[in-house]
Amino acid sequence: MSDVLSSRRVRVWLPVAVILTILFAFGARYDALPSAPTGWSKAGSSGTLPPSGGGVSLATEPNVDWSRFAYTQYVTDSHYLCNSVMLFERLQHVGSRADRVMMYPAPMLENPDATDGGSSDDARLLIKARDEYGAKLVPITVQRRASADKTWAESYTKLLAFNQTQYDRVLSLDSDSVLLQNMDELFLLPPCPVAMPRAYWLYPETMILSSQVMLVTPSEVEFGHVMDKINQAGRDDYDMEIVNYLYKDSALVLPHRPYDLLTGEFTLDEDKHRWYLGSDTEEWDPVKVFNEAKFLHFSDWPVPKPWLGMSDSVRQSKQPKCHVKDGVESCAEREIWLGIYREFVERRKRVCGRVAGEPLRRRRFSS
Ligand SMILES: *[C@@H]1O[C@H](CO)[C@@H](O)[C@H](O)[C@H]1NC(C)=O
Repeated sequence: MSDVLSSRRVRVWLPVAVILTILFAFGARYDALPSAPTGWSKAGSSGTLPPSGGGVSLATEPNVDWSRFAYTQYVTDSHYLCNSVMLFERLQHVGSRADRVMMYPAPMLENPDATDGGSSDDARLLIKARDEYGAKLVPITVQRRASADKTWAESYTKLLAFNQTQYDRVLSLDSDSVLLQNMDELFLLPPCPVAMPRAYWLYPETMILSSQVMLVTPSEVEFGHVMDKINQAGRDDYDMEIVNYLYKDSALVLPHRPYDLLTGEFTLDEDKHRWYLGSDTEEWDPVKVFNEAKFLHFSDWPVPKPWLGMSDSVRQSKQPKCHVKDGVESCAEREIWLGIYREFVERRKRVCGRVAGEPLRRRRFSS
């Protein structure tokens, strides 16, 4: 037998045969490419977008104990509560199998098991997230530090993901976003303290990892490091700076394509897409890019976030331009972009019963 194994021919062909057998045995998975969620494409203006071809889904993996994994959301105020509930609605829609953890300011709902939210909209929405979208409610203290920009002063709260040690792995997704496809396969990546995509939109001037999507291995030790850094944070240090200080050299880098796309990508000039595409030869195809994306983050400065409502004048001046190519006019970017904003506004009303642009009683929660 050892003679046979050491013969040159077998040494070459045995590994090939093994690989072919594996490919054959698991080949069925390649037929199960995820497709763009049906509810989504209907809501967009172009209902004829082709199904997605982005990435092979490992979510059909048998023998995975999905209860060891969770998506995490952190809530600091009523707006973000609604965004997080909307994200959980998407997770349910795409059939995600991992748990869903909602870290919310304890005063919003004193008893996470309560069945009656009383007169508080926030409490009722939390109960809905728990009962309809399977959210596990985890009361927390909002982590706030005196810093220059109010928008992000509470973003440290996101880093409480490191403290969710009841899970082996958690995936923190920024809630000013749309989940377009299931991302459960990320939980099955090789072990690492943190996995994040690059902030491709800041390249090449600033090379930094983005904390919009953050796969975290919760641990007491790592959480200790994170809290130390938060407590030493300078005026311009937010959650993203902190995780970069700690993990920029040890993080597993996730491909931003398809895991982190900005809405602003659709408003860029044709020659500016190579940082997203990761190539200066690939042709920009907005429909393909939209269909492969799994996670889309609202970022269109100075266009306000979608729950604040967009005035007609802002829409007119900021929406993507149509362009003529090979004698044919295309408005694909515009249709996709407007469709994304419109879908968010409709879903917000359906999930939270809230109308975009309507002022909420501004409530702050702190200990
Ligand atoms: C971290 O988790 C522990 C255990 O659940 C909890 O007692 C503690 O308050 C948490 N720390 C913070 C800052 O939330």
